Amino acid sequence: MKNQKLKMSFLAEPVDVNYRGNVHGGKVMKWIDEIGYALAVQFSGKYCVTKFVDDIEFLKPISIGDLVKLKAEIIKTGVTSMRIKVVVSSKKLINNEKKKNCECFIVFVAIDKNGEKTTIAD
Ligand SMILES: CC(C)(COP(=O)(O)OP(=O)(O)OC[C@H]1O[C@@H](n2cnc3c(N)ncnc32)[C@H](O)[C@@H]1OP(=O)(O)O)[C@@H](O)C(=O)NCCC(=O)NCCS
Repeated sequence: MKNQKLKMSFLAEPVDVNYRGNVHGGKVMKWIDEIGYALAVQFSGKYCVTKFVDDIEFLKPISIGDLVKLKAEIIKTGVTSMRIKVVVSSKKLINNEKKKNCECFIVFVAIDKNGEKTTIAD
């Protein structure tokens, strides 16, 4: 059975900072797009593009130096599309304080070499 989950983990770096000293929301959205892309390609074995993002909610800020974890899971598959839930959480390493920072749903569509949608099943 194909792997329907993927995790990523890394440190929030000073280059990720916004004007208040926390991680920029756009950066978090980029990470979500990246893990969604990686999972969609891993699952379908095809190049995939982002089609739709919904229900994105920023719950708590991420601080620079926090250990960031992203978890992605395919929750629905269609003919050409995959709906993926992504949860972003973080841990302050100095005191082990954990937070859920963001959650959203993102849809990827598999495309062929001409950029046309294509089936995710072989
Ligand atoms: C991806 C693309 C080829 C799809 O072509 P399309 O003819 O618009 O596709 P459709 O409207 O038939 O939708 C394709 C799939 O996405 C799903 N989908 C479309 N809109 C959706 C939405 N708002 N929510 C959830 N799923 C959606 C459809 O249900 C369909 O899934 P299925 O085949 O599994 O049933 C085309 O829209 C495209 O090239 N978009 C630009 C992608 C892009 O540039 N992304 C950003 C950079 S990666």
